[in-house]
Amino acid sequence: MIKLGVNIDHIATLREARKTYEPDPVEAAKICEEAGCDSIVCHLREDRRHIKDSDVVRLRKSVRTRLNLEMSVAKEIVAFACKIRPDQATLVPEKRQEITTEGGLDVKKNIGSVKAVVGKLMKSRIAVSLFINPVKAQIDASAESGARIIELHTGEYANAKTSAERKRQLNILRAATAHALSLGLEVNAGHGLNYTNVKDVAAIEGMNELNIGHSIVSCAVFTGLDEAVREMKGLIR
Ligand code: PXP
Repeated sequence: MIKLGVNIDHIATLREARKTYEPDPVEAAKICEEAGCDSIVCHLREDRRHIKDSDVVRLRKSVRTRLNLEMSVAKEIVAFACKIRPDQATLVPEKRQEITTEGGLDVKKNIGSVKAVVGKLMKSRIAVSLFINPVKAQIDASAESGARIIELHTGEYANAKTSAERKRQLNILRAATAHALSLGLEVNAGHGLNYTNVKDVAAIEGMNELNIGHSIVSCAVFTGLDEAVREMKGLIR
């Protein structure tokens, strides 16, 4: 059955808006696991804008499913990952000014450095996934790097403005998945998936896991707001 990884970065983003202790991403991870998710995803960015080192340390202790750490190939982040040993590391490109991860990792261009980082992480017994665009050359380079898992960037599909374009992007994802499977890679996907566009991607033959953050946290705000106001109103009364 296809798996769901929940990205909890936005819980930490909200906490950092006040630089306080709530909401706690570790508590959020527990709720996600109780609700049936298959893994917890968080991104330790070089600028630590949301998830902090201490969150990853606490998540490592509390996560009962799998902890998937999104990270760049920066030396200090790789050293941290090797120390903490998440179940999985997903290598992503990282730019300081971006709002979220824009585009996939250029594995083809950076094959030397990616290969070295993949080797280092795997030596620490961390499964390694590469977040890439659904492009044949990037899939081939990913297989060459030694990584056994890829995550296809679904941003172009999610951003498609017409149904024809969405269909075209879906076919690209289908072909990329089939090609990666033929090379023996495990295939995951994510970015921009939401309650209206997820089904077609989940139906792709051979897809293993979908990683979703923004849409789930956005939905949670509204499914939880009613109860939160009632509880506060009750206390005030
Ligand atoms: N997968 C990867 C590699 C990501 O970088 C992100 C965004 O942090 C996601 C999945 C989740 O994307 P979204 O928040 O749009 O669901």
